[in-house]
Amino acid sequence: MKKIGVAILGLGVVGGGTYRILENRREFFKRTQGLDITVESVLEPNAARLAELGVPAEKAVSNIAEAVCDPDVSVIVECIGGVEAARDYVLGALHAGKTVVTSNKELIAKYWSELERTAKAHNAGLYFEASCVGGVPIVRTLLDGVQANEIDCLMGIINGTTNYILTEMTEKGVSYEVALEAAKSLGYAESDPSADVDGYDAAYKLSILASLAFHTKVPLSKVFREGIGSVSEEDIADGKALGYRLKLLAVGKRSAEGIEVRVHPAFVRGDHPLASVDGCFNAVFLTGDAVGDVMLYGRGAGSLPTASAIVSDIVYAATHGEHRYSTFRNTAAPEKDVKFAADFKSAYYLRLTVCDEPGVLAKIASVLGKYNISIIELIQRQAGEGKCTLVLITHETHERSALNAVAKLNATDYAKVESLLRVAL
Ligand code: HSE
Repeated sequence: MKKIGVAILGLGVVGGGTYRILENRREFFKRTQGLDITVESVLEPNAARLAELGVPAEKAVSNIAEAVCDPDVSVIVECIGGVEAARDYVLGALHAGKTVVTSNKELIAKYWSELERTAKAHNAGLYFEASCVGGVPIVRTLLDGVQANEIDCLMGIINGTTNYILTEMTEKGVSYEVALEAAKSLGYAESDPSADVDGYDAAYKLSILASLAFHTKVPLSKVFREGIGSVSEEDIADGKALGYRLKLLAVGKRSAEGIEVRVHPAFVRGDHPLASVDGCFNAVFLTGDAVGDVMLYGRGAGSLPTASAIVSDIVYAATHGEHRYSTFRNTAAPEKDVKFAADFKSAYYLRLTVCDEPGVLAKIASVLGKYNISIIELIQRQAGEGKCTLVLITHETHERSALNAVAKLNATDYAKVESLLRVAL
């Protein structure tokens, strides 16, 4: 029977889950895969974690070299997090010809080309299913399941923390601050929540997923990013009244104008499959020219869901004769002939406070019309003191036109745009 020795670097949430699955499923993998997968060593300085998982003392190593130099270890699972130390560890392992499996999206988003070049040079594998949307097998789907297709559009809710916060705001009508505290108390949000709420985590994942979907390098620097920190409960309620749900959406599109990649809050129509992805759940919706629409849904974080993806990579690497690398030239910068759209198109939600006087609505429509922006729906309510609130949804327009129109309206004495949010129609 084929033997696979694994070293796990970091025994936190994900590394611990990986240890548990590998320990508990040893007989299962022998039976189903003909593989005897054993954890040979664990690098974890926290003795309590080692004790909690019952790691035998002889398996606890104190430095990376011990794990990498062990001839019985062929796969290194990197779960230490962070970037620079992880990069050094992973490069060291690849140089030694060891296959690396990682859940580290920031590492892959920033150093994928260097790591892949090193892996190829040393006939080692580099696998990262767990880096994108945890337990949801989206990387494998893009590489294997839909390879017959040209994919021109991919949209996802790929961060569970922000989806939990926005769901709380939508369902309970609470403020961003209250929902964030709830996310922290449940352990979804970190004490410094910026990686999630400012959209960095989703941007890392989107840069990887868009590269795989479009078969070309989509660097992190090309991802437009806006977080959820300034979303108000009023906007969520107004969007809900119009039949929309607010999500932190990751969008990758390819058109004649070029590739666009963006992460920002966006309203999705209530009847879109992504609208019902709530709480800490994630989903990716993609459209292939042969298969049509496909949606994958599941847990994007957590110990066993993420470990499930890591273990599937270990099994994949062990059961395929050759390692799999990118389907494109994985250079740090994009290929010269690949065009990135300078501007993107979207529909928009605008909330305005306006003077409640004859002709004001016509003047607002006229400003929007000058920028070729057409209104789909509109609601109006009294705001007191001679003012009213207008909430409107536009047809698709270029972002630049929408921003210019907003600046023009804000320069008038009859209208103030309180908020602008994108809408995925
Ligand atoms: N913090 C991420 C999330 C999970 O909330 O989805 C890991 O990427």
